[in-house]
Amino acid sequence: MKCRKCGEKASVHMRQHKLALCKAHYLEWVPEQTERFIKKYQMFTPDEKILVAVSGGKDSLGLWDILVRLGYQADGLYLGLGIDGGINYSHESQRLSEKFAAQNNLTLHIVDIEKEYGQPIPVLAEISHRGHGKPCAVCGLTKRHEMNRIARDLGYAVLATGHNLDDEAAVLFGNTLNWSSEYLLRQGPVLLESDGLARKVKPLCRFYEREMTAYCVARGIEYIYEECPFAEGSKSIYYKELLNQLETTRPGAKLTFYLRFLEARKSGELFIEKDMVRAHLHPCEKCGQPTSATGLCSFCRTMEKVSSVAAS
Ligand code: AMP
Ligand code: FES
Ligand code: ZN
Ligand code: ZN
Repeated sequence: MKCRKCGEKASVHMRQHKLALCKAHYLEWVPEQTERFIKKYQMFTPDEKILVAVSGGKDSLGLWDILVRLGYQADGLYLGLGIDGGINYSHESQRLSEKFAAQNNLTLHIVDIEKEYGQPIPVLAEISHRGHGKPCAVCGLTKRHEMNRIARDLGYAVLATGHNLDDEAAVLFGNTLNWSSEYLLRQGPVLLESDGLARKVKPLCRFYEREMTAYCVARGIEYIYEECPFAEGSKSIYYKELLNQLETTRPGAKLTFYLRFLEARKSGELFIEKDMVRAHLHPCEKCGQPTSATGLCSFCRTMEKVSSVAAS
């Protein structure tokens, strides 16, 4: 196959777009597309300061690279979760995030959860008894809390994460299976800021995972190949496998599933009440971040539980 732009030998074939490109044109196409999505969904403007949550994986490092190449003011935030899993997972992902920042002369903020809250994520999860023996629930809660805290404290207008189409389609699939209307309403490329919560954006939400892999390889970005060791056997991985099977027989199915959902939601065709989004929030008594619970937010309640167990 030949590159559609120059006729040289193509190195990336995208069946779902019926498009093949050589390496040089692929490296132009990805940022061009990203810029289109940023504008289409009104994610941010060049004068806004962006905080990119980087995990050391291909999506978030690729995202940071693309935003910087497009001329946006983007700093990074790495959260040290303290996960080893026999592969030195957190250390290795931090090393690669720091390396990328140093090579490109970028600012990377680092928050170490153990230093900040006394214990690494797996221990916090164990002593707080949340999440049925897996640390993922406490991990997700902590990541959301810390990302929002840092964005607010350091004055960033927007928080950007590396979620790709495979991630978003899997979440959408899960939410649809359960008809979780509240989550369905909130799921999208942009979640607007509201009292105390930073605006959240997902500029890569229309790229397939393999497109991000191809981008990082072509750019020579070194990233951590391993997934979090606790992700094994998770629902989201199972949903991704199912959707990949579907994609094999129907190229483009994942993209259509996600895009039609966005369109339906926008035109009010989803049978869901609209005013439920981020409703009835008030500040947590301890940290001040918005919560729907009375008193403390669920993060602070978890931490209280941890300290009371630690003290006894
Ligand atoms: P995940 O929840 O692991 O699928 O990651 C989704 C997105 O969250 C990534 O693309 C990153 O933008 C962000 N993220 C995940 N882990 C971290 C971390 N340790 N530090 C900062 N951001 C992270
Ligand atoms: Fe948080 Fe795996 S448990 S990334
Ligand atoms: Zn070309
Ligand atoms: Zn709180």
